[in-house]
Amino acid sequence: MLYEMTNNITGRSTTEKPLYARDKSRYMLEVVRLSAWYGKMKAVNEISMKIKAQAITALIGPSGCGKSTLIRCMNRMHEVSDGGKVSGQVLLDGRDIYGKDVDAVSVRRRIGMVFQKPTAFPTMSIFDNVASGINLTRLWSRKGELQELVEHSLKKAALWEEVKDKLNRSGVSLSGGQQQRLCIARAIAIEPEILLLDEPCSALDPISTLKIEELMLEIKKDYTVVIVTHNMQQAARVSDFTGFLLLGELIEFAPTKELFSIPHDKRTEDYITGRFG
Ligand SMILES: Nc1ncnc2c1ncn2[C@@H]1O[C@H](COP(=O)(O)OP(=O)(O)OP(=O)(O)O)[C@@H](O)[C@H]1O
Ligand SMILES: [Mg+2]
Repeated sequence: MLYEMTNNITGRSTTEKPLYARDKSRYMLEVVRLSAWYGKMKAVNEISMKIKAQAITALIGPSGCGKSTLIRCMNRMHEVSDGGKVSGQVLLDGRDIYGKDVDAVSVRRRIGMVFQKPTAFPTMSIFDNVASGINLTRLWSRKGELQELVEHSLKKAALWEEVKDKLNRSGVSLSGGQQQRLCIARAIAIEPEILLLDEPCSALDPISTLKIEELMLEIKKDYTVVIVTHNMQQAARVSDFTGFLLLGELIEFAPTKELFSIPHDKRTEDYITGRFG
């Protein structure tokens, strides 16, 4: 059965709740005075924030303010960009993911990510796109288990009904919105402890958007979600905490209800009321 498998990444049985799931007040990720550059251009400037476990944290702000750069620093993806440089710390369970002895690949397994413009792996079928992450970690021991896990992930990503009869077709034969959900399925298939989603609904219709929002709400029961979104209604609807960024700086970070009802900074107020710019 799907839920009786052992997760090789965390080494725990998937029937068990992870230990951190019991402690709602824990901070899963702590960003400490984080700055990020592309060559000489500083895109993120000394940002500090704490990401709570079993919660959804949203990052909002105008285009180009550094949301994607910040979120990519949270699982060591920024350093693979051209000229990408990072200073400061990102503590996962209290340990700096930029520490000398820390392997970036193992960080990325624990902190999964769906990029802003996700595309399916072009040479792979729909099935293999979802299975690729699982195969890397050899999570399954018999063929049926892999199939179950792929189906389960596609259902969670609200894509199953559309692809169940064509799992062997190429991943790139899907529409942009379907590929977006395929990439979400691939990311959740390896059950990361933290899931980073960079505008996961940008190419989705309202029904798929709602399904992805439901998925996020379900995932946060056990895991931790960080989402970048341009959709303020979405941030207000699903997130527990919201950070507002402007020109690479974190202007305000607060419980979502508070940030949207009584913003403390005039710039936040202008942005959320549409007076920005
Ligand atoms: N690969 C790159 N090389 C050089 N500069 C980059 C690169 N990616 C982003 N930038 C610059 O870094 C700054 C922050 O970009 P980033 O993509 O983080 O913004 P964003 O808030 O995610 O914007 P959007 O809402 O449009 O996605 C911008 O000034 C952008 O031009
Ligand atoms: Mg972006």
